[in-house]
Amino acid sequence: MLTSRTNWKFNPNQLSTTLTQLKASGTPVLDLTESNPTHCQFEYLNAHQLLSPLTDSQNLCYEPDPKGKLEARKIVQNYYREKEIEVDLQNIFLTASTSEAYSFLFKLLVNPNERALIPQPSYPLFHFLADLNDVELVPYSLRHNGEAWQIDLKHLVAQCDSKTKAMILVHPNNPTGSFVKKDELKALVQVAKERSLALISDEVFSDYSFQEDEKRVGSLAGNASEVLTFTLSGISKILGLPQMKLAWIVADGPEPILKPLLERLELISDTYLSVNTPVQNALSSWFQLKNEIQKEIKTRVRNNYSFLEKQLEKNTLANLLPLEGGWYATMKIPNTKSEEEWTLEFLEQAHVYVHPGYFFDFAEEAYVVLSLLPPEKTFQEGVERILKRL
Ligand SMILES: Cc1ncc(COP(=O)(O)O)c(C=O)c1O
Repeated sequence: MLTSRTNWKFNPNQLSTTLTQLKASGTPVLDLTESNPTHCQFEYLNAHQLLSPLTDSQNLCYEPDPKGKLEARKIVQNYYREKEIEVDLQNIFLTASTSEAYSFLFKLLVNPNERALIPQPSYPLFHFLADLNDVELVPYSLRHNGEAWQIDLKHLVAQCDSKTKAMILVHPNNPTGSFVKKDELKALVQVAKERSLALISDEVFSDYSFQEDEKRVGSLAGNASEVLTFTLSGISKILGLPQMKLAWIVADGPEPILKPLLERLELISDTYLSVNTPVQNALSSWFQLKNEIQKEIKTRVRNNYSFLEKQLEKNTLANLLPLEGGWYATMKIPNTKSEEEWTLEFLEQAHVYVHPGYFFDFAEEAYVVLSLLPPEKTFQEGVERILKRL
């Protein structure tokens, strides 16, 4: 009776069962997987500052626009202008989340059982988004050489076939924190052109870079190059406000293909009209807080990362993988035990919860991924406890 596209396994793994049991018994667990900023005691989460724009009387009026309210799209346009990127207002589509943006693009670009390329390792939600849209995901490898992560171009090309319709770039990637480089993009655009693939650039973490890098690509938005390009971002990361549910797609590409595509995307958006009015009206007030919010998040992320670096200088059993940006750190630990065994041991013996690398489809073991968002005290205590177990 139920569809095959939702025929998922719901059995919890041992890690999540143990976590539930510990919580039920009242045992405090230091959660170093926490990537919800609203759980991480940030000062910017100030009720007056963030909630007063929602009381605007304009919110009583419903004037839906399938692309999103013009004033809200102008804020998005301005976000790119500050990066010296010019984006046409007509090419901006607001969505309730980046996940919804992916769904719209899968519906627009990929027929049932056609394929989209995704980086590996990367973000686990992709699999559900793809299943729900009958899209098959094909991974291409990211490899690190100790100093940097690189896209394995040969592997990416070998993974393409006649059913491949889109190539997803996560810029910077979650959890590797690696940005796409200019020479990589040049090669990827060439592949996309030859095979008529659309590029989807997920840039939700792009403002969270550790340092400038000449070799790095900026945003793909406004890149009216030879291939269709969709740039995704949103306020869940840019403003650390995932609960407010607002994201966007910027569509770019050669004019003759772009026009009919914009019409179709508009109809997809019009079918749902999922972005609520109060959030669109509050966007300009919230964007005024952007620098302050990002400064606080960046300081937390850097402090936690520096602490981890210092601890690992003293501990030769674990290595920190290169990190250019984002909210996560990846640690390579001895493969004397599996990731499952290590993470269970950290949870059961040290009461610290971290993600095993397999959660992000790392090609080999043993890695663990730590969120850099938790308050410094929690993070430091958690790191000290797990390093003692190595
Ligand atoms: C790379 C990446 N893209 C998109 C998202 C989802 O963003 P949104 O909250 O806008 O759906 C996440 C969430 O963690 C993410 O890591």
